[in-house]
Amino acid sequence: MLWAYVWAYKGRFLLALLAMLVVTATTLSMPYLSKVAVDVYIAQGDMCGLTMIALLYLALNGVYWLAIYWQNYLSTWVGQRVVYAIWRDLFAHVLRQSIAFYEQERVGYVHRFFGPLRELSLVYNTFQAAASLDRIVDYMTREAQVPEPEHPQKPAGGFQGRVTFEGVTFGYGDEPVLHDINLDVQAGETIALVGPTGAGKSTLARLLARLHDVDQGAVRIDGVDVRQISAGDLRRLTTLVPQDVFLFADTIRENIRYGDPEASDAQIEEAAKRAQAHAFIAQLPRGYDSQTGELGAMLSGGQKQLIAFARALLADPRILVLDEATANVDAYTEAQIQQAMDEIRRDRTTLIIAHRFSTLRQADRIVVLDEGHIVGQGSHEALIERNPTYQQLYHRFERRCHAGGKRKGTIKC
Ligand SMILES: Nc1ncnc2c1ncn2[C@@H]1O[C@H](COP(=O)(O)OP(=O)(O)OP(=O)(O)O)[C@@H](O)[C@H]1O
Ligand SMILES: [Mg+2]
Repeated sequence: MLWAYVWAYKGRFLLALLAMLVVTATTLSMPYLSKVAVDVYIAQGDMCGLTMIALLYLALNGVYWLAIYWQNYLSTWVGQRVVYAIWRDLFAHVLRQSIAFYEQERVGYVHRFFGPLRELSLVYNTFQAAASLDRIVDYMTREAQVPEPEHPQKPAGGFQGRVTFEGVTFGYGDEPVLHDINLDVQAGETIALVGPTGAGKSTLARLLARLHDVDQGAVRIDGVDVRQISAGDLRRLTTLVPQDVFLFADTIRENIRYGDPEASDAQIEEAAKRAQAHAFIAQLPRGYDSQTGELGAMLSGGQKQLIAFARALLADPRILVLDEATANVDAYTEAQIQQAMDEIRRDRTTLIIAHRFSTLRQADRIVVLDEGHIVGQGSHEALIERNPTYQQLYHRFERRCHAGGKRKGTIKC
């Protein structure tokens, strides 16, 4: 496939190859000429022959420099266009992928192929990077990760967003991390999922977005097993805002646009405003055009999550899964996150994995997960009354609140 890109410029590419051959030939022939000059003409004292050799040497040098020039010129010309074409196709491809795909792939591909591309841009005048390019091209031709159902199904009345976990057991290896999970979430309901670290909360979220398939039981949306829903439908239906948001090496604007490649700049700003991200973006030196790579530590984990919220608002899914950032978030950003959450969970089914007490207030129902089991569900009042796991969690939340209260800018609990 890489060849297809190069072959589009075959005339110049072949000329570049020819120039390279000439360079090689002249480079190799010069020592040979010296040898002949020494062995034959100098040994025999043949001045005429020696002059001829010297002239030939000069001529070869001329040819050599010309060939080098053309080799560089032509390979740069072709290289630039090939790199540009690949960038263009790669971006088109990236924009077509679901956010869920990145959640799964982010460690691997994005870095692996943007790295070589950057290097390639630097050394495009040689074809040495062809090996790395093959990897990119391979990525572009790869099938989607999740196998597409043979006969995709839709519920009779269209998707509403009811989510059902039906006897779900799942493990990453042999040991299950979720055991016989039964949970029914009504369309439009907001569920907060709480539990100690390692309880399986993020895993549950990943099963819903079908980043993994269950070992037993089924995850259903409006009664349809997610394995029977077409990849396109599932991508439109569900958005997962992961615990640690991944931003692409691109502008803030384009990072938000991943939610909906068709979105206009005005729509992007509108989404950012609703997600409480506009204020801090507007304060960045280059605003929406700031490159995430250049910002580095200027964006906190909480702010990255707000950008992901804006992305999710553009995607406008029926079902939203928010895996709240565990990292410490300052009180101001915390308040913004709560406000943004209130906005984005409206009119959709929302599963919030809560790491903060303030979040629990937004939920219609709280579900307590411990060591892969659902150990209780209900209102805060009911759970605090009789659920030991919840009581422990709540006291931990409370302690953190009080600790926060002593610092400047009290966390609202
Ligand atoms: N990719 C993975 N491969 C193997 N094991 C994993 C993987 N992800 C999670 N686990 C394991 O599965 C269990 C549940 O992890 P999970 O991330 O769902 O917990 P969590 O409730 O989200 O925790 P936290 O509150 O820390 O985010 C843990 O024992 C964890 O070590
Ligand atoms: Mg987690």
